[in-house]
Amino acid sequence: MRTIIEPFRIKVVEPIRLTTPEERRDLLARAGWNLFGIHADDVIIDLLTDSGTSAMSAEQWGAVMRGDESYAGSPSFYRFESAVRELMPFRHVIPTHQGRAAEAILFSIVGGPGKLVPSNTHFDTTRGNIEATGAEAVDLVVREAHDPDDPHPFKGNVDLDRLDRLLGEEGGRVPLVMVTVTNNAGGGQPVSLANLRAAAQVAHRHGKPFFIDGCRFAENAWFIKCREPGQAARSVKDIVRDMFADADGMTMSAKKDAFANIGGWLALNDDALANAARNRLILTEGFPTYGGLAGRDLDAIAVGLGEIVDEQYLRYRVRTNEYIGEKLVALGVPVVLPVGGHAVFVDARRFLPHIPPLQYPGQALAVALYEAGGIRACEIGTVMFGLRPDGTEAPADMDLVRLAMPRRVYTQSHADYLVEVFEQLVQGRERLRGLRIVSQPRQLRHFTARFEPLP
Ligand SMILES: Cc1ncc(COP(=O)(O)O)c(C=O)c1O
Repeated sequence: MRTIIEPFRIKVVEPIRLTTPEERRDLLARAGWNLFGIHADDVIIDLLTDSGTSAMSAEQWGAVMRGDESYAGSPSFYRFESAVRELMPFRHVIPTHQGRAAEAILFSIVGGPGKLVPSNTHFDTTRGNIEATGAEAVDLVVREAHDPDDPHPFKGNVDLDRLDRLLGEEGGRVPLVMVTVTNNAGGGQPVSLANLRAAAQVAHRHGKPFFIDGCRFAENAWFIKCREPGQAARSVKDIVRDMFADADGMTMSAKKDAFANIGGWLALNDDALANAARNRLILTEGFPTYGGLAGRDLDAIAVGLGEIVDEQYLRYRVRTNEYIGEKLVALGVPVVLPVGGHAVFVDARRFLPHIPPLQYPGQALAVALYEAGGIRACEIGTVMFGLRPDGTEAPADMDLVRLAMPRRVYTQSHADYLVEVFEQLVQGRERLRGLRIVSQPRQLRHFTARFEPLP
């Protein structure tokens, strides 16, 4: 069949309140033209993030009822641990309340002033947790990742030469090497199995542990199956196991590729490091068999991990984003290609060339999407990255708008509606105006800054 349908039926629905453009103009003004200030009830299609927004399955909800809330030794923990080990066979699996807690624990132990932590591209919480210890986060993604039109199939790959050079020159300062799959901060682009293996080899040759930020491991494995020579006949589960086979540890946000609404883990092989991590966990998260989660959350994750490697699901998941990407390209909307696993990234700077970066074309497009269609997306550009620590501003590398797809939540007609809203924006794009910031905090300003549209 040509049409790749949603491989699920809907048993429980959440009604969407359909607002009008007039209402939304009012809501935008009240929120200071910042979409983080809009109530979710006033959003028609919420593409702000794919994190924690998945629809859980009937099996997961059933597992929630089975959750055991014992403080120590809960059977929920053992189900969770064995589901993780089924895919990622690490000796120690340490649950945390979400991904950044795993990062905070790991880097509180191995980070510190003067240290360097290389990755393809660090996600902002990973970077934040590394920098909070005084260490430096170094991005070493391949050159192709910086060109939105380059069709390279694995734009999340690590630049192995630069990694080797860094470890040769500064190895003494590097506690571990990390790779993020898929590379969220680099457009959700995958890392090939060959690159993961080679990066692990380089790390090990220099005596460094190799860690994976595995938030979107299943989407990455699906891309490997579809794009990497010799992988097409293999099951996603086998590919996932291979992805982690050479790794010494991982951090994970279960809010992504575990279909959970909360949760995460740190997994690793080194006994001494695991001991230190558990001691830190007890201080900050909780006892090692629940780690900041309820037993029911652990059970939801355990079931979610079984469901996420379903290839029918992954085919539909990746196809949804490709479908939207193809339609947008046909409308002349510039998108980052190839389309990523969890999101479509629109190049707002190229879509709105009359709006200079310091008038925030990404924010202007995100606001216009909300006003025209009640669609909430996320600016990833000068608003997010443009404010320097000394208070001055500079344009970000790119001004993107991320349309992140929650898992199993929206249908093809929602995707078609999104495309129609873009069609309307394409027709009136030269009328869209930039914004100016009227108030902002010094850090992470995108969450709370207030804007005003320019005349
Ligand atoms: C690649 C990556 N790493 C880490 C995190 C942090 O996970 P959490 O939001 O669960 O703290 C995220 C969340 O978006 C992510 O995308």
